[in-house]
Amino acid sequence: MTAKPKVLVTREVFEDVLEYLSQYFEVTSNQSDVPMNSETLTLRLSDKEGAIITLSDRIDAVLLSRCPRLKAVCNIAVGYNNIDLEACTKAGVMATNTPGVLDDTTADFTWTLILATARRLSEAEAYLRSGQWNGWKLKQFLGLDIHHATLGILGLGRIGQVVAKRAIGFEMKVIYHDVRRATPEIEQTYRATFVTKEELLSQSDIVTIHVPYSSATHHLIGRDELEQMKQTAILINASRGGVVDDQALIESLRSGKIAGAGLDVFENEPKFNPHFLELKNVVLAPHIASSSFATRHKMAMLAAENLVAALTTGKPPNLLNPF
Ligand code: DGY
Repeated sequence: MTAKPKVLVTREVFEDVLEYLSQYFEVTSNQSDVPMNSETLTLRLSDKEGAIITLSDRIDAVLLSRCPRLKAVCNIAVGYNNIDLEACTKAGVMATNTPGVLDDTTADFTWTLILATARRLSEAEAYLRSGQWNGWKLKQFLGLDIHHATLGILGLGRIGQVVAKRAIGFEMKVIYHDVRRATPEIEQTYRATFVTKEELLSQSDIVTIHVPYSSATHHLIGRDELEQMKQTAILINASRGGVVDDQALIESLRSGKIAGAGLDVFENEPKFNPHFLELKNVVLAPHIASSSFATRHKMAMLAAENLVAALTTGKPPNLLNPF
């Protein structure tokens, strides 16, 4: 009997995902869930053929040069800015992600941030919890109306489209900008009007970002862009840290250049800029937009299915670097 290929699961996953992988592989897994630094990850991967990884695991040329047996790395995420795809292709390593299964859940959470930020929920709850509430007041925590407002979506991909679909219920005007204009069918289905980035920034009551992170989208929202937004507008980011210039955002929030922000992602997370904590007009979350029981399970299982397909057929369904 031939030995099963060795694979590594870099972070904690669900029990049935490990059981599934164990049918095909000799599995080593980090169920203690302590993130590995790059040296530990390299050492643990040096004798493995495959890996289930997460966005905290950086796969680059240096690591790949020290892991000659590696054939596949399967991200439990739709975003894959932690993987150097070019280096993977050169090293003959398949890379996969988990598109589709998290669209609805991530869009739901985007709406959680939109509503909480517009209606100042974190600030109001902190006030109540601290015992300061002494009665109803007409002007207490006045917020921004969502219904009939203008929603500006930066990036009308899979998740952006679901966010737009939810906006129909709030009878909003939806405008969007993307590097590529969507088809007339998509625009009609989601009742979304294409505008320039400048138009989107100056017209929207809510700007929500749904683009992948890359050198092209680094600081897509910086000082200049924040200047173009309405003073009453809010910014929502459930895409990736780095798409927004956090220091510029903090300054805009502090000076009242924009009204608020709802953030699930940060530059250099988990070590985010501590000045966010001093601001009342932000709603902050620790990168949990896709974190429902069902969706995180689907993501982990899809990554496992990608790994099984990669190492048994060489054709994983969600291959990012065809070669
Ligand atoms: C993704 O899928 O890219 C998410 O950010 C992971 O939670």
